[in-house]
Amino acid sequence: MTISVGRKIFPATDEAIARAAQHLLEGRLIGLPTETVYGLAARGDDASAVRQIFAAKNRPQSNPLILHVATAADAMSLMSEVNSSDRQHRFERVSKFWPGPLTIIVPRSRAILDCVTAGGDTVAIRVPDHPVALAVLRQLAQIAGHVVPVAAPSANQANYVSPTTARHVADGLGEHISMILDGGACRVGLESTIVLLPADDSPPRVLRSGAISPVQLAEALDEPVIGPTAEPSHAVEVAAPGQFAKHYSPRTPLRLYPGDRPSPPSHLKTDHVLKIVFGPIADRTLHDPQCVWSFNADGQLATAAAQLYAVLRRADALGFDTIEVNGCEEVGLGVAIMDRLRRASHQD
Ligand code: TXA
Ligand code: MG
Repeated sequence: MTISVGRKIFPATDEAIARAAQHLLEGRLIGLPTETVYGLAARGDDASAVRQIFAAKNRPQSNPLILHVATAADAMSLMSEVNSSDRQHRFERVSKFWPGPLTIIVPRSRAILDCVTAGGDTVAIRVPDHPVALAVLRQLAQIAGHVVPVAAPSANQANYVSPTTARHVADGLGEHISMILDGGACRVGLESTIVLLPADDSPPRVLRSGAISPVQLAEALDEPVIGPTAEPSHAVEVAAPGQFAKHYSPRTPLRLYPGDRPSPPSHLKTDHVLKIVFGPIADRTLHDPQCVWSFNADGQLATAAAQLYAVLRRADALGFDTIEVNGCEEVGLGVAIMDRLRRASHQD
């Protein structure tokens, strides 16, 4: 990384937040912290700003973007003008998770740019739970004189591991961004749960797992919710165009093994293998001369989620031949963690 790229990182002071909002207003790209991952943000009502996002990330135009706003009330203007009371009711019930790590997909307003939705009939909306992101969104509305939705995919090159620190953003996209607000390491560490509220009365469906579980959504909605499929599949790729089987991948090949079984000693002796486990590592290293790391020495899944991408990025930078991961139990946050690890391990 060049020094100039690192110099684009600014602590999120009031002054830097005001400048970031001004950059957005002028149609520039910024790196924005959220509670899930850092976003590559641009104003979502400006086609040339939105096109810069696709170019910087090398992202296919067919993969729609999430629009970020400061409140659920602001989200209303992005939704279809023709709104049934049932759908309105569902929206009100799930938007109680906002601000928070939940993206809601609803039929779109005609006012939204086609390049944001990839030409589709729906729009993905989120209110992030991060003081810096919310401050930027409010400031932007103030200087624009109206609500401006902010388009923000994860701030990584397409298919690479998502960023959870300002430095990760600078490493992957620094050259394309006018400034990166440093809001510290992301608290959640995994992308938001995505729930689709269909146009008809078919059941809501989770398209991407995250910190908000299908059970929490079903409770809030008081109706059944279709959960995410465990295996990346063609059907899911069609419903959520960006959920490709291979995604979130480090460059180093990653092999995923069940957590309760040791990985087979199949690799060549000369291979430089990094093993990453969940929980304390002390007893596991005794019989194993390899390099062993843990995603969460404290055994907490929330810690593993928060560390996952930083650990994979660090591993990738060290030039191992292979990364071997022993998975975690698929309960709670473990569902989303294993989803990301499966995609990271997917071979073309
Ligand atoms: O936590 C997050 O959601 C982060 C932060 C920055 O907010 N953003 C994020 O954006 O993960 P991105 O673009 O990396 O992932 C958004 C996913 C993609 O898989 C995209 O295909 C899907 O949401 N998506 C967006 N709009 C959609 C729509 N209208 N219908 C179906 N899927 C949609
Ligand atoms: Mg992404």
